[in-house]
Amino acid sequence: MSNKTKEILARAEAVMMPTYAPATVVSSGKGLTVRDADGLSYYDFTSGIGVQSVGYGHKKVVDAIQKQAAVCTHCSNLFANEPAVALAEKLVAISGLGGKAFFCNSGAEANEAAIKLARKWGAAEGRYEIVTFRQGFHGRTLATITATAQAWCQEGYNPLPVGFAYADYNDLESVKAAINDKTVAIMLEAVQGEGGITPATEDFMRGIRALCDEKNLLMIVDEVQSGMGRTGTWFAWQGYDVAPDLFTCAKALGGGLPIGALISNAKTADVFTKSAHASTFGGNPVAASAALAVIDVIESERLMENALKMGELLREGLQGFVDKYDGLLEVRGKGLMLGLVCEGPAKDLVEAFKAQGLLTLTAGEHVVRFLPPLILGEDDLEDVLDMISDALDCVWGE
Ligand SMILES: Cc1ncc(COP(=O)(O)O)c(C=O)c1O
Repeated sequence: MSNKTKEILARAEAVMMPTYAPATVVSSGKGLTVRDADGLSYYDFTSGIGVQSVGYGHKKVVDAIQKQAAVCTHCSNLFANEPAVALAEKLVAISGLGGKAFFCNSGAEANEAAIKLARKWGAAEGRYEIVTFRQGFHGRTLATITATAQAWCQEGYNPLPVGFAYADYNDLESVKAAINDKTVAIMLEAVQGEGGITPATEDFMRGIRALCDEKNLLMIVDEVQSGMGRTGTWFAWQGYDVAPDLFTCAKALGGGLPIGALISNAKTADVFTKSAHASTFGGNPVAASAALAVIDVIESERLMENALKMGELLREGLQGFVDKYDGLLEVRGKGLMLGLVCEGPAKDLVEAFKAQGLLTLTAGEHVVRFLPPLILGEDDLEDVLDMISDALDCVWGE
């Protein structure tokens, strides 16, 4: 570690709250890779945690940001701005739900908006409770940590808001048991991300839709991590034979700029009336321009097809290691959202991969998470599989 890296980390420790434990300093990124302050290059198979889906520094995204920044960076929501309108048109079109969009700045805020909208929709009947899922993840605001049925992110924050009930993922009977006369919605990820890269089964997704129809509940899908083409469709729910009433996205939407969105169907499009909800920066024209460029890149470079093709190759490569090493149990996920399930602590493998020049993430204690940029090509994947092979040799020996 260079003196410069040490110096920046020490400065961070002195003045930044210790919510993160940065291992190094990233000074630049290009395509699939980032460079640290010592000049070391890493393949970023985290995509900055699901954000850089079109790669770092994509020319179209950089150009769109620079162009809009020179024209107008912000104008408030007392006025409309054309990039935000165009982005809403595009998101509504690619969702196929025939609804409307609300913009905010992050995934947690998009989910918070979905929770508020569902409550408003059910208010006249006194319904407000939302069923969410164990091992799910929906963000770090008070409402969204409560929606996140995991003790580690709720601890110390009591009293938590009321109005959430928890069920087991991929278990319809447990969902039925969690529904009562106060229930207004069911909220889930189509592929649980932070909780361990667990896709919903076809029967489960269809069953949730059928339950929502039968009991007059809103189906809300959180696409913050799985959205924007990562699983081979714009949104992971589109890979199932269902349509939600509401879904959220953020992360990859802005190509590195902060933006979140709640997208509705026709039924829920006008539940938020004037002043019912707001965000100063929501629909910011620079972030919206970046998002329009991201969508253009995903379409013009056929990145959803690439996510499926390269996802299959990455899955095959990882499966080869599962076949070879007893400490590896399974590969699961969809497209380029894959998890390598291991017997021991996933963090040990993440460390071993980093030592070879590959950044990955954990998803729960026993899953290594792979979220590479969707621009991944075969040569780079080959390099990365070699790195993984070397790392596993170091951990378990030949
Ligand atoms: C599925 C899901 N929902 C919501 C969030 C929260 O998003 P943000 O950190 O942008 O608030 C995340 C973040 O990891 C996520 O994976």
